[in-house]
Amino acid sequence: MDHFHLRDGVMYAEDVPLADIAAAVGTPVYVYSRATLERHARVFRDAVAPAGRVHTAFAVKSNPNLAVLRVMQREGFGADVVSGGELLRAMAAGIAPGDIVFSGVGKQEHELVAALDAGVGQINIESEEEGVELSALAAARGLRAPCALRVNPDIDAGTHEKISTGKRDNKFGVPNDRAVAMYARLAALPGLEMRGLAVHIGSQLSSLDPLEAAFVRLGGMIAELRAGGCTVTHADLGGGLGVPYKAGEVFPSPAEYGAMVARVTRGWDTALTFEPGRVIAGNAGVLLTRVIRVKRNANRDPFVIVDAAMNDLARPALYGAWHDFEAVRPNGTRMTANIVGPICETGDTFAMGREIDAVEAGDLAVFRTAGAYGATMASSYNSRGFVAEVMVDGDRFATVADRIAPETITAAERVPDWLQ
Ligand code: LLP
Repeated sequence: MDHFHLRDGVMYAEDVPLADIAAAVGTPVYVYSRATLERHARVFRDAVAPAGRVHTAFAVKSNPNLAVLRVMQREGFGADVVSGGELLRAMAAGIAPGDIVFSGVGKQEHELVAALDAGVGQINIESEEEGVELSALAAARGLRAPCALRVNPDIDAGTHEKISTGKRDNKFGVPNDRAVAMYARLAALPGLEMRGLAVHIGSQLSSLDPLEAAFVRLGGMIAELRAGGCTVTHADLGGGLGVPYKAGEVFPSPAEYGAMVARVTRGWDTALTFEPGRVIAGNAGVLLTRVIRVKRNANRDPFVIVDAAMNDLARPALYGAWHDFEAVRPNGTRMTANIVGPICETGDTFAMGREIDAVEAGDLAVFRTAGAYGATMASSYNSRGFVAEVMVDGDRFATVADRIAPETITAAERVPDWLQ
């Protein structure tokens, strides 16, 4: 459920007509609904509550905007971060360091040090080498870093190959069959407090089965570790729950996910961490765009050229992802069109041969379900600048990220003396 809807024939975000935002901020612009974020946060929290002692850490990578993180902080969420930059953002948004989990396959020394200095709640180690390095850094500071070991369970999540993370060939985690012995070795290091295992097998999962298989495997390892004398107090179950992008698609609900988790983890006697991203932020945002013109080529569907492009929303170009396209003021007629951006490559295509609300030059429209992995993956390709972001709260809205103009980006560039 989200708060983007038609009222008197025009699309609103909560109680704000999207046309008002376009007039004030320009397009393209991401528009987030605070009420939708809060609703999703509560639905998720309630869904996993039956599983016992739970900690919910919002996956910052899905939407790192400071205002979005602030909403999550106010909802009692911690953060799952994967870089020094995300750590900085989470703390700037007021998330307590102790509520932050630091994941990531390639954490650098300066990032590990930043995490230790900040006192993050848990560092998810992804290799023995990383564990040894972290132990030395922590011990040198007189600390023991609270850690989990991320396991690669070798399970196919059944999602797009570029966002699948739990197969043997993927770079993430440590192999199943080595995890138990490695955990014991890491637990003996002076700078680590090994407290559990972590798993995350992929994103935009449409079935609970692979998640259940991964969790069952994790439960087996927890038992093995304890039988071997290791202490396990925490389990981190990652994120991954998918959301519908096309009208009519059905995905497992947070409640079904929570019930499965409660069933599988019964008897584990560990605290549980969750790292949801998309399921919270996905439907809480749209990308508002304006039609530049409609170009009719011979014997083809027309090209609807919009002012948003692959640099603003990369998912269609990167993963062939579908985002519903809806007119802000639908006139009741439909057309079949190719929706494209202005960037000079054919990959800058949002949809081909799609039936959509009829639109013409100057009309406003939205790409739906753009709140997760949208603005955060933007670039300035074709020197288009960085897209702006707005948050709506009831009948008010605020710009929560300025559009970064090409002039500002160019100001960071230099022509060296020897080229003058
Ligand atoms: N935890 C870890 C360790 C992750 O790697 C991820 C996502 C999450 C949690 C959050 O997963 P979620 O609940 O959002 O599925 N750019 C891609 C998605 C990449 C996901 C990367 N990892 C896309 O646009 O679909």
